[in-house]
Amino acid sequence: MDLGIDGRVALVTGADSGIGLHTAALLLDEGARVVLTDVDAERLEKAAATLDAPADRVLTVAADLTEAGSAERVVAAATERFGAVDVLVHAAGITGAQGLFHEIDEDGWRQTLETDLFAAVRAVRAVIDGMRARGWGRVVLVASEDAVQPYPDELPYCVAKAGVLALVKGLSKTYASEGVLVNAVSPAFIETPMTDAMMDERADENGTSVDEAIRSFLAEERPGMELGRRGRPEEVAAVIGFLVSERASFVNGSNYRVDAGSVQTI
Ligand code: NAI
Repeated sequence: MDLGIDGRVALVTGADSGIGLHTAALLLDEGARVVLTDVDAERLEKAAATLDAPADRVLTVAADLTEAGSAERVVAAATERFGAVDVLVHAAGITGAQGLFHEIDEDGWRQTLETDLFAAVRAVRAVIDGMRARGWGRVVLVASEDAVQPYPDELPYCVAKAGVLALVKGLSKTYASEGVLVNAVSPAFIETPMTDAMMDERADENGTSVDEAIRSFLAEERPGMELGRRGRPEEVAAVIGFLVSERASFVNGSNYRVDAGSVQTI
């Protein structure tokens, strides 16, 4: 299937690893020009160097999206280099404050919401007027299964991701008539540095190997994941790639789950 995005300019946040990096790779394969952004300039450069793409179709701009003005700075650099931003894939995120509700202080809530919700607001704010002016845009915000199925030991993350879904739905109603389509993708337990860190910690706590930590996590914490394995970041990127494409021209305000069935309702 030709995605029809040859030449489009895509901004991918959280692009130095995991879902963001694999999405950048897919969009480059499809002929898009891609702006990768993430916090650490050196790590971002290294990640971009792993992409098999001509240098004239890749731009890296380091930015911490919890800082005011950061997203505007990235979009300004993208616009200077490529003339516009047609597609936003917002994959930046952190696991955030862990623990039961009574164990998490206000700073933990604030830091998690700042990164997992407010950075999404910031990223969309930076691209939306340009998309509206050109009458074409695609926005995909990466949420999580946790948005609709909250886990008690990471409520700030769950609340932030629920906010992301509400944001997506609201934006989809606001801008579809101007040609900008907005959707969410909600993964569960994907093989990326984010869950690698979680599994390393679980292995340490339980005194087991990482493989055993993954097996027990799937059995005990994610019984709905019927495929019985972690997802691969390219399996999430494939869905994002479709949603930002010309082929998804009638898809708006949706939440696509890439979770092997983890969420118990359809
Ligand atoms: P990852 O850790 O590989 O990628 C997240 C990226 O976001 C990192 O490169 C990180 O540096 C960047 N980031 C963090 N804070 C930032 C900030 N303040 N400014 C700019 N960039 C920042 O993890 P992964 O798994 O690829 O995560 C991508 C998205 O998918 C995240 O939003 C995550 O919440 C979501 N997700 C991941 C799941 C998983 O199982 N891996 C499951 C459900 C959702």
